Amino acid sequence: MAEPTDAVRSRWNELREQVARHNRLYHELDAPEVPDAEYDLLVRELRALESEHPELADVDSPAQAVGGAASATFAPVTHAVPMTSLDNAMDADELRAWADRVARGLDGATARFVAELKFDGLAMSLRYEDGRMVQAATRGDGRVGEDVTANVRTIADVPERLRGDAPEVLEVRGEVYMSTAVFESLNAEYEAAGERPLVNPRNAAAGSLRQKDPAMTAKRRLSFWSYQLGEVVGGPEFAAHADTLDFMRELGFPVNPEVRSFDTIEEVAAYCAEREEHRHDLEYEIDGVVIKIDDLAQREALGFTSRAPRWAIAYKFPPEERTTLLRDIQVSVGRTGRTTPFAVLEPVFVGGSTVSMATLHNEDQVAVKDVRPGDTVIVRKAGDVIPEVVGPVLSMRPRGAKPWVFPTTCPCSIGSTLVRPEGEADTRCVEPACPFQRDQRIIYWASRGAMDIEGLGERTVVQLTEAELVRDVADIYDLTVDQVEALEGFARISAEKLVGSIQASKDRPLPKLLTALGIRHLGPAASEVLAAEFGTLRRVFEASDDDRAAVDGVGPVISAALSAWYDQAPNREFIDRLDAAGLNFGSEEEAAARAAAKAAIEQTLEGKTIVVTGTVPGYSRGEAEEAITSRGGKSPGSVSKKTTALVVGEGAGAGKLTKAEANGTPVVPADRFGELLETGEIPA
Ligand code: IVH
Repeated sequence: MAEPTDAVRSRWNELREQVARHNRLYHELDAPEVPDAEYDLLVRELRALESEHPELADVDSPAQAVGGAASATFAPVTHAVPMTSLDNAMDADELRAWADRVARGLDGATARFVAELKFDGLAMSLRYEDGRMVQAATRGDGRVGEDVTANVRTIADVPERLRGDAPEVLEVRGEVYMSTAVFESLNAEYEAAGERPLVNPRNAAAGSLRQKDPAMTAKRRLSFWSYQLGEVVGGPEFAAHADTLDFMRELGFPVNPEVRSFDTIEEVAAYCAEREEHRHDLEYEIDGVVIKIDDLAQREALGFTSRAPRWAIAYKFPPEERTTLLRDIQVSVGRTGRTTPFAVLEPVFVGGSTVSMATLHNEDQVAVKDVRPGDTVIVRKAGDVIPEVVGPVLSMRPRGAKPWVFPTTCPCSIGSTLVRPEGEADTRCVEPACPFQRDQRIIYWASRGAMDIEGLGERTVVQLTEAELVRDVADIYDLTVDQVEALEGFARISAEKLVGSIQASKDRPLPKLLTALGIRHLGPAASEVLAAEFGTLRRVFEASDDDRAAVDGVGPVISAALSAWYDQAPNREFIDRLDAAGLNFGSEEEAAARAAAKAAIEQTLEGKTIVVTGTVPGYSRGEAEEAITSRGGKSPGSVSKKTTALVVGEGAGAGKLTKAEANGTPVVPADRFGELLETGEIPA
């Protein structure tokens, strides 16, 4: 392939800059400056250049980001018939209990069950008028979804026009999914191009539907299964669910062939067990079986609870388990010096994604599980998201495998001492100068929930500290474009971008700055109320212990932690350096404006405590917590008996989930977060 000429390079630079700028205007500021068509031309030209000269394309290319960035700009769609969710049955007994409730609801009349596969994708409502597709909307919170019509039109399975006699209005509900074959082939492609792989088919399907450019969705080769009717005007009368499935099939919708009817719940339970055993025999992922009452008159009689139909239930498969080799146990160091042992695993595909690491929490957990390097271990996804080492397969333990011993020195370059204080579960690196801790503090500072500095992730932080351009957090504000440009992997534009986003972070509101300081016990919720009460950073620190402790949501522990932190001279100097760098330390007016904005939001979560772990799609951690606190709820960083619910997303920590399960705290999957905010009720 021809080397790019100077002219090509300069056009490429120009395009990259323009596309990146428009991306930001469109996605983040919601203020596009050019019509979509013009923007699309720029992107297309850039993509064409990059595919002609692959050496120009890299993961940071804005042409890739066009697809990567989730847009928040899809129009809302109010569903004519709400898209409710389903109650779950975790085992055969819960299925039987549901069947008993159904029988009681029908005064003992017998019911016929239809069992369908529970596809692991994204619920979608397709609307047809006079046989033509007019709209496709996501489920959203069940009442209001998002208009993703342009993207759904790229799905080959979704008919544009219906065959035969189509009703005036027809809504078909079903699941958009990515087949495992497509998932694997896309990932092979991404890997070859050095791009970040997709996590799992479900996430990939969700992300693909949120593309701004339908051409990107088309490349993801999504599929669709229809399973339910929504609004129908001017159509035939149906007596049974099975008839509605036939009807959809006749009109040209893809209806999964694995639909079975049963007369007894025992037959249903046996079928569920059989499906579970063969769940991977399919070309797509399923996470359970959906059982519906066939007779539509009986459905009507049973009706709905506040969140779900009484006439259907989802039998959820338990988390999956696999065995793999435990290669090693290593220790990571957090920003507070806390160390966490983790399992280094022979990569294994489990619960829909490849797992190569899993936390082992602390020394005692390793001992309790008695996992040893060299063991074959059982790995599973807790709550279907967090990889967890269940335990060793003792019959396969290699001869001479020794119990693992917690290291006494930190894995960092200065090899500081690790200490486990008496009565505590955690082992800590007690040297504040530990480079690992320092790097983690900077990473935390730049993270989304704190100062949200785009582009300052782990890799870049390590590069900056290794090059000794940055020795502590405050140093980042002195970085120059020239310094960054000299680092490997950076060019002029990317260096400018990073320095720009670092400088932009100076204006973050006070609660973010307080959170970013990473003071022990001080999370976003307490930062929020402290900022509201005291207005400026100086006043937060200068207030008396008692005054701070008296603030609702703060208390003596946090207050004392703030004092202890500020008592240390290096920390006060650090604050002065931030001040000199021009960071926003807050003001009365800003605090008042935040209070006014908060008062305007419906307080659906009043009195509730919602803990979030992992990523909630569409929200940074800080935004998720803000969404909770702004609705009157509390969102502390850990699960306790007081927790109303735990929201669990991709990449969540197993500790919180285990604790929630032990306390019997309801667990809400991240994709139901919107519903929780809206209604204040815990989705089933
Ligand atoms: S019926 C009112 N059937 O599971 C009934 N849902 O956990 C509406 N799902 O939101 C749903 N396969 O996204 C139904 N064969 C199937 C399904 C199915 C997957 C999803 C759907 C729903 C979720 C509830």
